[in-house]
Amino acid sequence: MSAIPGYRFGDPSLPQPTVDGSGLAQLQAALLMTEADIRLLRDAAAIMDPHIEELLDTWYAFVGSQPALLASFSTPSGPDAAYLGAVRTRFAQWVRDTLRANFDDDWLAYQDEIGRRHAGAKNQTDGVRGAPEVVPLRYLIALIYPIFTTVRPILARGARDDAHLDQMHHAWLKAVILSVSLWAGAYTRPEWF
Ligand code: HEM
Repeated sequence: MSAIPGYRFGDPSLPQPTVDGSGLAQLQAALLMTEADIRLLRDAAAIMDPHIEELLDTWYAFVGSQPALLASFSTPSGPDAAYLGAVRTRFAQWVRDTLRANFDDDWLAYQDEIGRRHAGAKNQTDGVRGAPEVVPLRYLIALIYPIFTTVRPILARGARDDAHLDQMHHAWLKAVILSVSLWAGAYTRPEWF
């Protein structure tokens, strides 16, 4: 289906999404995510596309510089380069998918899958042995901020003006929060989600 190992967006054998279309619309409303934000994400896609590897370099340097973060990618013998590399290709695809998301059931089902990959089914996709079983939820939430703030200089390269830059930047923040809020389902009881 895809040249990216372990990437399963659109795979019909994934479980049905836990949030349906109307549940998603309510969540987007709570986040103040509008059609205008979705158009701004498309603007951002065109600007960010050529710079995604640069962005990944920044994020990976950040994770690599903090032992508490790198621990999730490490086994008792140290950081697992193959694991880091495999996740990086899917992470880059996630950026493209997020900027172009149409928020349909395939998108929702893959958000559940990414949640499980942080908690519950971590390590399985890449066959990693000995790494922690879960990405700590507190770090998942905290990382929203660096993932938000680091895209700004890249968006600035293609923004029409300061207002357009701010609007695209906030649309990206909403998209990242939306993703992480769906991923949080893997960390909690269904009735608490
Ligand atoms: C806003 C926060 C975060 C975002 C947007 C994010 C994004 C992603 C994405 C897109 C993937 C690949 C999904 C796929 O397989 O298609 C992934 C996997 C992974 N992430 Fe995160 N992540 C976040 C926070 C964190 C944090 C804080 C850590 C660790 C400190 C972390 C560790 C991992 C690990 C270890 C995997 C691989 C999981 C597996 O074994 O399948 N992530 N993340």
